[in-house]
Amino acid sequence: MPEHTYTRVGFFSGEKIPLEMHKARMVQRIHLRPAGERLAVLGSTGNNTFLLPNRDVFLDMLTDRGVNAMSEAQYAAMLLADDSYAGSETYYRLEKTVLSFFGLNYFLPAHQGRACENILATAYVSPGQYMVTNYHFTTTKAHITRVGGLVRECVSDEASLTQSTNPFKGDYDMGKLTSFVDEVGTGKIAFVRIELGTNLIGGQPVSLANMREVSAYCRSKGLRVVIDASLLADNLFFIKTREESCRLRPLEDIVLDIGSLADVVYFSGRKLGCARGGGISLAHEKDYRKLRDLVPLFEGFLTYGGMSVREMEAMNVGIQETLDIDTISQTPIFVEALGEELQAKGVPVVTPFGGLGCHVDALKFIPQVPQEQYPAGALCSAVFLVGGIRGMERGTLSEQRNADGSEHLSSVELVRLAVPKRVFTLSQMKFVADRLGWLYEHRDLVGGLEFEDEPETLRFFLGRLKPIGDWQEKLVAAFLKDMPSGL
Ligand SMILES: Cc1ncc(COP(=O)(O)O)c(C=O)c1O
Repeated sequence: MPEHTYTRVGFFSGEKIPLEMHKARMVQRIHLRPAGERLAVLGSTGNNTFLLPNRDVFLDMLTDRGVNAMSEAQYAAMLLADDSYAGSETYYRLEKTVLSFFGLNYFLPAHQGRACENILATAYVSPGQYMVTNYHFTTTKAHITRVGGLVRECVSDEASLTQSTNPFKGDYDMGKLTSFVDEVGTGKIAFVRIELGTNLIGGQPVSLANMREVSAYCRSKGLRVVIDASLLADNLFFIKTREESCRLRPLEDIVLDIGSLADVVYFSGRKLGCARGGGISLAHEKDYRKLRDLVPLFEGFLTYGGMSVREMEAMNVGIQETLDIDTISQTPIFVEALGEELQAKGVPVVTPFGGLGCHVDALKFIPQVPQEQYPAGALCSAVFLVGGIRGMERGTLSEQRNADGSEHLSSVELVRLAVPKRVFTLSQMKFVADRLGWLYEHRDLVGGLEFEDEPETLRFFLGRLKPIGDWQEKLVAAFLKDMPSGL
């Protein structure tokens, strides 16, 4: 794959280094606790990295959701926010930006991505109907099943190959899509969703060419196309750098093309726009009127949708900054740098490197742990023990059980080490690689987890687990032998 020369400045030394195109003028102090303390904290928080307090976390690589570093222009815009229940100028500024960004006709605000999903599921999905998608996302699926709907995935077979050279593993398999539509009929399909930067399979992008094919097919069948643009920034970077026909195209044109392929685009403003909010943009008045009435019911009045006006101003600027290649490159080039450091130590990581974060393949890392014992969750807890690093389980633990109570085994078991935009330094990434390298050398010590307390819905958020046996104590003892300070 050719270098993306506009984002990586060459070094005379020949080293491949992701260079920051920003400087830090505000920083946050973080603390590295010794391994013994980490073991105690992990036990008291049910081996669930969502439940760890920040004070005990060194590098918070849980997500990029709402924790990307904001720009000075975003902070400045927050001071101009027009606070009012109805008719806020802030809303009109945001609406104008979103409409010109995607080229659609209507905008509805919502407090975050899953709120948009709630509105879409409530408005469109009847019991027994399908949402077809390239790959599901946790909150999306939960909202669809909550209203009695079903989810059908039609992603390319490559998606479940953790090591691949396919640059667009998030693409739809058109054969799967068309035969599913033929099988169930269009009446059974509420909408066809395209998730950009496919989250659960390692931040893998969807090509513009594939979106065009899906959209053309759906239009020929009268099916509604909904694009989840939460991870647009990373996906856009990959379209620009990996899709030959887009290399010379301005980013704004590519985004307008994406918008033109959809009937509805929704997004988490915690991701797209690097603030805290969300929104839905729509092509047709009929859809707008149907969804509009749900906004005051679930979110708040139409001119704020549950968001603070300050966040709306930040999001407005953040969305516009998505059209700057040096801004959107920062996560992908740091993910690549971390991924290459990990590969050099033999750690199995998802390739090609995607957006969002670096994804470690738990099934290859600790093959001794069966999927029923949540290998990705177990590896996440081990990563915290050896480095104070908070990752996120993206595997069977993040799935919902089948209706008969059996486990729904995930097609991949990943530990996501998220790389929020402009937050971490290269030395911190080297620390992560160093600790995972140590863990890989001691991988035989890692065992599984079992539930102590398992919530029915989205169990990964609040569930509490315990290690099976005393492997965590043994792992910490081995770590202390090599690193007597425990740090
Ligand atoms: C692809 C995708 N869709 C939807 C959401 C939900 O967004 P939020 O966390 O703002 O509710 C996320 C969040 O991670 C996401 O990655």
